[in-house]
Amino acid sequence: MKSQPQWSNRSVFLLAAVGSAVGLGNIWKFPYIVGENGGGAFILVYLFCIALVGIPVLIAEILIGKTAQANPVSAFENLAGKFKASRFWVIFGFIGIITGFLILSFYSVVAGWALEYLAVFLQNDLAGAAPEQVKNHFADLLKSPSQLLFWHSIFMLLTILIVAKGVNQGIEKVISLAMPALFLILIILVIYASQQAGFSEALAYLFTPDFSLISTETTLIALGHAFFTLSLGMGAMMVYGSYLSKNTAVVRLSLSIALIDTLVALLAGLAIFPLIFTYGLEPSSGPSLLFISLPNALLALPFGQFFGIAFFLLLLIAALSSAISILEPVVRFVEQKTQLTRRISAWLMGIIIWLIGISALLAFNEWAEVKLFGRNIFDSLDFLTTNILLPLGGLGISLFATWVLASKSNILSSLGIGNLAYKIWYWLAAIVAPAVILMIAWNGLFIS
Ligand code: PHE
Repeated sequence: MKSQPQWSNRSVFLLAAVGSAVGLGNIWKFPYIVGENGGGAFILVYLFCIALVGIPVLIAEILIGKTAQANPVSAFENLAGKFKASRFWVIFGFIGIITGFLILSFYSVVAGWALEYLAVFLQNDLAGAAPEQVKNHFADLLKSPSQLLFWHSIFMLLTILIVAKGVNQGIEKVISLAMPALFLILIILVIYASQQAGFSEALAYLFTPDFSLISTETTLIALGHAFFTLSLGMGAMMVYGSYLSKNTAVVRLSLSIALIDTLVALLAGLAIFPLIFTYGLEPSSGPSLLFISLPNALLALPFGQFFGIAFFLLLLIAALSSAISILEPVVRFVEQKTQLTRRISAWLMGIIIWLIGISALLAFNEWAEVKLFGRNIFDSLDFLTTNILLPLGGLGISLFATWVLASKSNILSSLGIGNLAYKIWYWLAAIVAPAVILMIAWNGLFIS
């Protein structure tokens, strides 16, 4: 019997969970989807999704993990057995494991871009480059399978090495160094951005809502992103929760995670958009916002190289602390279900994910024409996980935590809240969140 790891203390759990939540989603994706979907109005819808769906599901997910003290599949298995519920719930554990594989495979490719840009800024390779050249740099990177493969491999290697070392020796150690560095860099970048001419324009853009821009599609994007950014629906938070001691109350911790995650996303917007506006660029340039528009702006600004390094280092730290939390549930599952050691499980699972990642990176070049439902492989992986599998996993998690766990046992002390707060959570997690997920998923499947 392999022993169950425990976090050294609650603060480390909080840092690790924030590290999981804060990632490419906050710093790369959030700013560009805000840009594509019209700024302030989208942010408002997103905040609603976080409050009404994200937080209740986050509480549910950590609660299940902490109660079961096991990987996502065993968690559903054991608790369903204990409370005499249907074995069918285990499906949600498996969905989580599969989703983990799929997310990390394309996540690592994008994290690889961050590594490449970090190298470029460190060597000052783009100094004096014209906007056209900066654009070509990104295009050339995407066109080169060997370069993409190189950076994807390095990133996966880092992730595997950390997870292979285990919860205390690997994840905790890295997180305790990485997260303070992340906050420090982010604050420096926001101060830098606030000194630029475009700062007030960025504030207006981020915080003035125009409701005519809200549609079913933007709502679906906001909901999917709420899941993605809080690392919900695939067992990352569940497995991190399983390393909490049984008497830790989870509601306060969950609120802190969601609050910090949202703050970081907004701060990332405040660090990026002022530079974009100062340089007179369009905020709606999509995924290339960070890899073409931002470098162009940085190159034109004083101390651009230095802040470029800071920026891509921030992106890398954020990506790495999330990637380990995507690999962890998968590895913990294999470690608990087989005779394999953690080290072997981490390498084995990491290599399979690395291989799937190769098909994601080929979508930008050799396999650009390979389409699944009208999307290339990379976009399909993103869409399938973010907009379908994570919400589906979240649905199972919130239903299980309320209908099974909460109705068959007394979980008040596990949550650490009073009766009224409990009723609100229960109502949100048992009815509101599932209804919103189903409604939006239904619409989403038919409009896209
Ligand atoms: N929350 C991470 C981000 O915003 C991504 C992630 C998704 C991590 C799912 C774990 C699980 O980048």
